[in-house]
Parts: sequence; C-alpha cells; structure tokens
Amino acid sequence: DASDIEKGTYPHYMLKETDEQPLVIRKIIQKYQDEQGNLAIDQEIVDAVNGSDRIYIVACGTSYHAGLVGKQLIEKMAGIPVEVHVASEFGYNLPLLPEKPLFIFISQSGETADSRAVLVAVKELGHKALTITNVPGSTLSREADYTLLLHAGPEIAVASTKAYTAQIAVLSILADVVAKTRGRADNLNLVKELGIVANAMEVLCDSKEEMDYIAREYLSFTRNCFFIGRGMDFYVGLEGALKLKEISYIQAEGFAGGELKHGTIALIEEGTPVIALATQENVNLSIRGNVKEVAARGANPCIISMKGLDMEEDRFVIPAVHELLTPLVSVVPMQLIAYYAALHRDCDVDKPRNLAKSVTVE
Ligand code: G6P
Repeated sequence: DASDIEKGTYPHYMLKETDEQPLVIRKIIQKYQDEQGNLAIDQEIVDAVNGSDRIYIVACGTSYHAGLVGKQLIEKMAGIPVEVHVASEFGYNLPLLPEKPLFIFISQSGETADSRAVLVAVKELGHKALTITNVPGSTLSREADYTLLLHAGPEIAVASTKAYTAQIAVLSILADVVAKTRGRADNLNLVKELGIVANAMEVLCDSKEEMDYIAREYLSFTRNCFFIGRGMDFYVGLEGALKLKEISYIQAEGFAGGELKHGTIALIEEGTPVIALATQENVNLSIRGNVKEVAARGANPCIISMKGLDMEEDRFVIPAVHELLTPLVSVVPMQLIAYYAALHRDCDVDKPRNLAKSVTVE
C-alpha cells in the first residue's frame, strides 16, 4: 500500500524502517500462523529442509549477516548442519557438496546478481533452492523452487534494517517448524518468544535519545570504531560495523572477542571506541575479559548487555529475550547508533555515497 513508502513525519526512511521492526515481527508471526495458532510453513519447504543433509545459505551484505544467525538457529533448533557463504565467493569456489544439499538464498530485494549467479549454477547441477525475500515475484523468488516471504513492507533506505530482523525471524520460524517435524522437543514457544522480542524492540525504539547520546559520546570525532562479541554477538557486531561504515563512513570492523589478541588489538589506540555486545550467558565473562584487555590499552569501551547479564560498567542494557533470539533485539541499538553517528556527520543517511540498494551487476 502506498502509505508504506511515504516517510510521513520521519526525517529519513532508515529511522522509519528501524521503528517498524516491532510491527514487522508481529506481522510475521501472524503470517506464519495456521488457524490453530501454530507456526506453519508449506509442507514441501519443510520436507526439503528436513530431507537435506546439509544446508547452504548464500547471500550478500546484511542478508549474509542474517544468514550467520540463521545457521545457529537451524543447527541448534533443527539439528541440520548449515554452511553460510558470501555469494560472490561461492560462485567460483564451489565447496564439495554432500548428497542432498539444500540452498537457501537470503535476499531482501531478490535481485542481487551475485546471489542469482549461484542460484543459476546450483540449479544447473540439479539442486533444490529456497529463496527468502521481501519481494514476491523477484528474480530469485521466481527462479528458486520455493519462496518464503519476509512481509517487511518496502525497504527504501539503502542501509537495511527491518529486512535483517525479518530474515532472522523467518529463519527462526523455519528452524522451529522443522525441529518440531523432526521430533526435537525444545520446549521453545516461539510465538511467545517472538512476541517478547517485539516488545523489547519497542523499548529500544523508544530509547532514541540515549542512542543519539551514545553516538555523540563515542563517535563524534573518531576515524574508526570496533565492534566485538562472541557467538551471536559477534555476528551482530559484524552487522553493527557494516551499518556504521555504510552510512557514517567511519571505518568500522566487527571482530570475534577471542581473535582480538591474534592481531586486531594492535589497532587499539588511546580513545578508540570499542562497542562490545554481551547478550550470551556462556561467553559473558570472556567478552568482559576482552573489554578489559582493550581498555587497558586505552580504548573507550561501550558495553551493551542484556538484562540479567548486565554489570555496573555497562553503557546500555537491552531487555531480556530468549538467548537464540538476541540478534533481533541487540541489532536495534547498532542501527540507531549508526543512524545518529551519520546524522551528526551530516551524511546522507538514506542514500550513502557509492552504494546501491540493490546490486544487479556482478
Ligand atoms: C546491497 C545493499 C545492502 C544489501 C545487499 C544485499 O549491497 O546496499 O544493504 O544487504 O545489497 O541485498 P539483498 O537484496 O540481496 O538482500
């Protein structure tokens, strides 16, 4: 509907789309529920996933980052091994495939040329493909065997926000439905947990002033910024760094906390901002150890943690959600911090230099 593509009172599409995320999650829950209120996915898609001995997720950019989270969800919930590949690399570097691979293409636009090239190649080899996209009838949707829609509504800002969270939500539903088919009792009530996520996102969308403040405090004068985390938090850090570089042009990189000492820590100087995510119980102490290491070398750490795992030194605490679903929530501060950092630097938030919303050339 036309009102979807109006900015309304928002100064930028990116801010509007960030704010839409709670609604999008609720819409996805509704779209993927059957009449009994159970999560449901087309049986042929469930069969294709269930019947596969290894899943290959192929994507670019933000969609690739959603794929990294998707791997964890599918492996932990459904118990099927998953590999995640950047499309442009996969194209000429095909790994040794198992007997029954299934390819999942994640693409907001459904038009990305690098992803399409891989789709064409694997179809030629006779393999099955599922496209997860926001655009019904897009090229990747038409050319794959199956499609799952994101129902996120049009995403106009070049920097992707609601498509990322929608991709993760849809992947979680796919993982959950397949897990139940495989008789894996995980006691996870995903409808309820995604509802909690939507509420938590709302709290974060109401914390804009605080995000603006963090952006001012840490990113006003810096030329670089690092994001660290472990597990899910590492993947969200990659996305946080991508958001920041895309729209504010600050050199930003995401690193696995444990890898710091193997090289990256050499980059830490007096005042270097390091945004550390701490939403995972099993690595909470380790990531805090990494924060101490960088702080001892002069870094300016900004810890964003989750309620229940929080400590006094944390700069911001996000509401608690299920530990498999934290990326849906922890990414919101990343998006908003990047937004305000770009704003403070007078950057064109919705149309950053050198970037296109949809890259249809290889
Ligand atoms: C472009 C956009 C990114 C996006 C990537 C993949 O580079 O600027 O925001 O993540 O393409 O796009 P897709 O439509 O395939 O998800």
